[in-house]
Amino acid sequence: MFGPWDSRYAIEDTSGIITPALVVYRDLVERNLDEMIRVAGNAARLRPHCKTHKMRAVAELELKRGITKGKCATFAEAEMLAEAGVSDIFLAYNLVGPNIARAVAFRQRFPHTRFSCTADHPAPIAALGAAMAAAGLDIDVLVDIDSGQHRTGVPAGPEAFALCQRIGSTPGLKFGGLHVYDGQNHQRERGERALAVRNCWDPVASLLEQLEAAGLSTPRIVAGGTGSFPVFAAMTDPRLELSPGTVVFHDFGYRDTFPDLDFVPAALMLTRVISRPTPERVTLDLGYKAVASDPPAGNRLLFPDLPDAKAVLQNEEHLVLETSQAASFQPGDEILAIPKHICPTSALHKQVFVVSQGRVVERWDVSARDRWLTI
Ligand SMILES: Cc1ncc(COP(=O)(O)O)c(C=O)c1O
Repeated sequence: MFGPWDSRYAIEDTSGIITPALVVYRDLVERNLDEMIRVAGNAARLRPHCKTHKMRAVAELELKRGITKGKCATFAEAEMLAEAGVSDIFLAYNLVGPNIARAVAFRQRFPHTRFSCTADHPAPIAALGAAMAAAGLDIDVLVDIDSGQHRTGVPAGPEAFALCQRIGSTPGLKFGGLHVYDGQNHQRERGERALAVRNCWDPVASLLEQLEAAGLSTPRIVAGGTGSFPVFAAMTDPRLELSPGTVVFHDFGYRDTFPDLDFVPAALMLTRVISRPTPERVTLDLGYKAVASDPPAGNRLLFPDLPDAKAVLQNEEHLVLETSQAASFQPGDEILAIPKHICPTSALHKQVFVVSQGRVVERWDVSARDRWLTI
């Protein structure tokens, strides 16, 4: 059915797949998980971010491999991980507003799950400490370090040092360590990327020494995304926990950005031709309600079977391609595409179709795509 580009993506019978569909290739996900563990050295060093998949089934595949720690960005993701049985969950997000009370509710609902979060400012630290102490609970708080992305956090310096001490002395809170995410380190060349990661790490290493000298021991440093993963993995600090996310599904954005990494796209879009409005055009049922639209229009999908395809128009439920092969397509024909950015793509789907050994074997819920589940 599909072109000869890669037989691993063939699907025997697509008749039950309602398009546009996100198809997850379970065997390739498992392969990526094994590669993630290989790069890390062992499963205990890993704290993968679940934002890419948001699926309990993937968390369970990780648990089966001995990965018991998880990272997330929302309470829905935290709840999904806890329900799956992940025993140590780090919500890498600064809690404000109702999320303070939700942290208390989470601790009460999952008393046996280890739970931690980030902070980068004294006010939420005080609010979280007061709420936890009033409930007779406590929570580990990691200081969010700004390693150069300038999204959240404070630089690894005196302000960070003061926040670490403040957390350590706030009733209801425990100093949980440092969070060092370096989403800016997207250098294509591995050596350049390694250098940039080292430059982020040096001030962190000094901060760790100062904390140690002040009698505050740092239980963990949760570091990195996919790009910096192999670089942090090569470091030997036993407190380091590695937190790539995209690697489980990968996408063509990261495949092109990080050619040194051996992960393969494991979640593709299946789409059908719905019209051939002109001799050069093929229109697919693949609008931006089905695929992430944060990459620029025209560059949101890769069609391995149609190397010359140009995405010339995308609306909510339509994608128009121009290709020299347009004449060979009929309405109902199917095409596979690799998303440029898989994480927000999976969040657009209530369920995914799961393929193993060339067959659709089940569907998985993308349960944590919601903003809240029960907490
Ligand atoms: C805080 C944090 N940690 C880890 C990750 C995972 O990074 P990647 O998508 O590069 O695997 C992300 C991604 O957005 C993130 O925001």
